[in-house]
Amino acid sequence: MRVIYGSETGNAEDVAEGLAAGARLRGWEATAVSMEVYDVTGLPVEPHAVVAVCSTTGQGEVPGPMRRLWRFLLRSDLPLGTSLARVKVAVFGLGDSGYADYNVAARRLAARLQQLGAEALVPLGLGDDQHRLGYEGALEVWTKGLWAALEALPGAPPKVAEHVISSAGLGAPRWALRVTRSAAAAGPPPAEPEGSGEERRLVVRRNVRLTAPGWVQDVRHIELEVGDGGAQMAYRSGDVLCVRPENPEDEVDAVLGSLGLGGDDLVAVEGPTNDGDPRARQWFGDGGGGGDGVSARELLRRRVDISRSPRRRLFAVLAEHARGQDEEEWERLAYLASAEGMDALYAYNQRERRTVGEVLSDFPAACAGVRAAGNAGLSHVLSALGALQPRKFSLSSSPSADTGGVLAVTVAVLVVKTPYKRVRTGLCSTWLAGLGPGDVVPRAWIEEGALRLPERQDAPLILVGPGTGVAPFRSMVREVALQGLRSVLLFFGCRHKEQDWLYGEEMGALEKQGSWLAVHNAFSRDGPKKRYVQHCIAEHARAVWQALDAGGTVMVSGSAKDMPQDVEAAICAAAQSQGALSEADARAWLKALKHHGRYVAETWS
Ligand SMILES: Cc1cc2nc3c(=O)[nH]c(=O)nc-3n(C[C@H](O)[C@H](O)[C@H](O)COP(=O)(O)OP(=O)(O)OC[C@H]3O[C@@H](n4cnc5c(N)ncnc54)[C@H](O)[C@@H]3O)c2cc1C
Ligand SMILES: Cc1cc2nc3c(=O)[nH]c(=O)nc-3n(C[C@H](O)[C@H](O)[C@H](O)COP(=O)(O)O)c2cc1C
Repeated sequence: MRVIYGSETGNAEDVAEGLAAGARLRGWEATAVSMEVYDVTGLPVEPHAVVAVCSTTGQGEVPGPMRRLWRFLLRSDLPLGTSLARVKVAVFGLGDSGYADYNVAARRLAARLQQLGAEALVPLGLGDDQHRLGYEGALEVWTKGLWAALEALPGAPPKVAEHVISSAGLGAPRWALRVTRSAAAAGPPPAEPEGSGEERRLVVRRNVRLTAPGWVQDVRHIELEVGDGGAQMAYRSGDVLCVRPENPEDEVDAVLGSLGLGGDDLVAVEGPTNDGDPRARQWFGDGGGGGDGVSARELLRRRVDISRSPRRRLFAVLAEHARGQDEEEWERLAYLASAEGMDALYAYNQRERRTVGEVLSDFPAACAGVRAAGNAGLSHVLSALGALQPRKFSLSSSPSADTGGVLAVTVAVLVVKTPYKRVRTGLCSTWLAGLGPGDVVPRAWIEEGALRLPERQDAPLILVGPGTGVAPFRSMVREVALQGLRSVLLFFGCRHKEQDWLYGEEMGALEKQGSWLAVHNAFSRDGPKKRYVQHCIAEHARAVWQALDAGGTVMVSGSAKDMPQDVEAAICAAAQSQGALSEADARAWLKALKHHGRYVAETWS
């Protein structure tokens, strides 16, 4: 059977790897393959079953690696009902019900596969980040249904009893790894790769705090430029800077110690890797294809995610290695890894935001077991970890106004207090905020964002950007100030005028320059009643409606939580009160605006 996945930040990939491993334990020959490299023309003749796992990204988009497969499936020359008549499919989606387009990629994929004639083995499964247990909340039950449906297929391998599976150990890891100890490695470890061609080395020019000293939230305006006199990076307002963060050195050292690795030890894949596994090359470099591999320090510093809470699979791996070492530890780990222990796992792991390093040091006997198992132990542990993801920041500089190659970002330092009052800080935002002039961001690149200045230069803009959501709009306002052709309504929101009014003075000064810009601020905690951007929009409904009537575009940026829906409702209400539209007509009108690119949101959680 085949497991294919489309993943933007690695979750769908991990689910797919887990499903393929589970299928192998049940006697299937199964591999997980990224949709990016999967030969979709072979789909109609796939024997047995195809399990597809995909996330939804952006504002209801399919993940990048799924685009090619999705375009193929949408081809109008594929006969409906018969193209995939022989194929049995199961689809699991990963999404976040906080987004308006919840899990649409998986919903559309499942619907299209069935439209083309594929038979659904089990109903579509939907994992939700908003669930207490994350996507795991829905995955467990869905997977049970999948195993039952697969067993019933003609030609299925003989049924393996659940107790046999649970005592069968871990099966084969994703990669069989080889470690060359630093003393045995010929010469110094290979130079750390400089990253792909588009990744650039940036140097910090300025880093200033935008929030008042002593205010709970630290938000930074950080200016960067290309280092070593390299060519400037071209961009447009609305683009985002992608930054590869690095794990802190003490965390790297802790994990190296727990796994018994020296920083200069070389880690490589033993033997050939599955072609559909792009991560092998990303992690092990030439060691993903027969070479010496990568130093353990580089692997843990820049490639493997050791700062977020580990996935459930790591607990299963640790349980297996604690067996025979320490009964109490083994029992606890086995419980945490089990379906019954999911609540306990959530309380210990996700809710407390434990890092991989912390989990490993909490279970010393399991780590001793991993070390004793040598390469096999390390293979299982690394196969259970995710990839360190780049972080995105909307560019707040303007390509025309900020000359000299300056790139600015507006970074809110993430600080979270766990139920046990442990203070956890965001990896990348904390790191960036700590950089001073001359410090280096070794790997960064620019990507096109969802927001873009409309081509019609006199079309009004309605910009809604509370908090750091203002970043791309600072860029746009500075750009428009030079052109002087269109009118802009900017809605900003924060808690207090005196504490966290980001770019307040700058926007106020621009507003005074001419009537083209009107800034409306919602200081949520300054008055007797909470006041947010949607309330501000309601108060200025007439101006909003007039701007839209004149061909304007609405852009929304910031938190994905409730704000985007509240803003939509406020815009709809403006159409009703000012344009005399019925509720249904206002909704249809908003849908049409979105369709024509005149209502665009870019939000994140
Ligand atoms: C298109 C786009 C543009 C963006 N633009 C900006 C920008 O201009 N400025 C900006 O500051 N950020 C922006 N972000 C967010 C940014 O990319 C990072 O996600 C953010 O800085 C946190 O990264 P981190 O590495 O510091 O935290 P991490 O170490 O990655 O921790 C974040 C984790 O904490 C969780 N989390 C977040 N908030 C809470 C909370 N309150 N309580 C509990 N858990 C929480 C999240 O689920 C996430 O898993 C943008 C994101 C996208 C996708
Ligand atoms: C920038 C961003 C945009 C997202 N957009 C959506 C969305 O529109 N709809 C949705 O259901 N989930 C959305 N999500 C949630 C992801 O689908 C979810 O986190 C998923 O587990 C990611 O899986 P992946 O790592 O395989 O990409 C978004 C997440 C991020 C970070």
